[in-house]
Amino acid sequence: MDRNDVPAYPVGLRLAGRRVVVLGGGQVAQRRLPSLVSAGADVVLISTSATASVEAMIAAGEVRWERRRYAYGDLEGAWYVVVATDDPEANAAASAEAEERRVWCVRSDDADAATAWTPATGRSEGVTVAVLTGSDPRRSAAVRDAVVEGLRDGSLAAPRRRARTVGVALVGGGPGDPDLITVRGRRLLAEADVVVADRLGPRDLLDELPPHVEVIDAAKIPYGRAMAQEAINAALVEHAKAGKAVVRLKGGDPFVFGRGMEEAQALAEAGIPYTVVPGISSSISVPGAAGIPVTHRGVAHEFTVVSGHVAPDDPRSLVDWAALARLRGTLVVLMGVEKIGAIAAALVAHGRDADTPVAVVQEGTTAAQRRVDAVLGTVGGVVKAEGVRPPAVIVIGDVVTVGADRE
Ligand SMILES: C[S@@+](CC[C@H](N)C(=O)[O-])C[C@H]1O[C@@H](n2cnc3c(N)ncnc32)[C@H](O)[C@@H]1O
Repeated sequence: MDRNDVPAYPVGLRLAGRRVVVLGGGQVAQRRLPSLVSAGADVVLISTSATASVEAMIAAGEVRWERRRYAYGDLEGAWYVVVATDDPEANAAASAEAEERRVWCVRSDDADAATAWTPATGRSEGVTVAVLTGSDPRRSAAVRDAVVEGLRDGSLAAPRRRARTVGVALVGGGPGDPDLITVRGRRLLAEADVVVADRLGPRDLLDELPPHVEVIDAAKIPYGRAMAQEAINAALVEHAKAGKAVVRLKGGDPFVFGRGMEEAQALAEAGIPYTVVPGISSSISVPGAAGIPVTHRGVAHEFTVVSGHVAPDDPRSLVDWAALARLRGTLVVLMGVEKIGAIAAALVAHGRDADTPVAVVQEGTTAAQRRVDAVLGTVGGVVKAEGVRPPAVIVIGDVVTVGADRE
């Protein structure tokens, strides 16, 4: 039988501390070296040149570099060799040495002559997926992508037998577009028994949950603000104590005006294990979705995110508006629709130019996204006249007009 018709025998090599020789410092080495380094291999690169990325790995001490051509004897003591120089004769010679010394040998130029094949690999939360199709690397990559994607977003049912997530996951769901949740957040959502969801965030994802999942709408908890938070904390504790996998799905990032730490503290007090999954905050992503960078070279070297839920003259306000008015950079105001007139007036009164551009982006990243432009001196009136409603992110500063030429 032709050896090439026989399927390869899959195996996971445990290379930690073992000598691996890579011949050639080009694109192939660049692709293979990171996984070899992650596997803890003692990697020796033999090549006359290296790409910039490979050089960075050498400089970081992850790979030892012998800057020369391959010579017979280089594979002595090696467990594994990647042959990828641009010299076919050197490749054939190294391959012959590998055969002689019984070192498994991958060849970039001649898969038929190789004694080992590199599978298309991917990783998701402790699972390594490795796919071999023999002679069709594109198909291997496509199958790998499908499996990894399915594991990540939970659409590939692969229940964890040993380590199911227990307790509560405080998940930042991003600004609203269901594609803008993190991979980890989406997977935890797919594994949840109970989901406690906010009004903001990727609500469309709730439709995808299987019928047995209990969804608690935190926005409908019928108390005042403080009591509602206590009721949410109590619900998280109660369901986690009942042994359920609980996801607290929040808009944006849990720790940006999200009361995430209050929930974490309540869980810690009740002895419930929890994990925090960061999310894409609306403070950066909503301006971005409307074509506004919160920083731009030569325009803004800082951005400040501030809550506008209480007016500047309100004794409860913790914001130093006078100091903010002195800054030249970008000011991003969350929860500020109602008080924007008073906020703009305070900024102008403390010295910020009344002509400073302002953009108000309502329901960013969703199908209903809407942007209204003004300047500090007019924004209070414009927001009222245009009927802008929360949720909206207000961006103040010269970055607002940076993308204007594109539109
Ligand atoms: C209680 S804060 C929560 C912020 C959230 N944790 C974050 O990191 O984005 C709610 C405010 O976030 C802003 N916001 C959240 N999602 C938004 C969206 N899709 N469009 C516009 N503003 C949004 C609004 O200013 C809203 O009033």
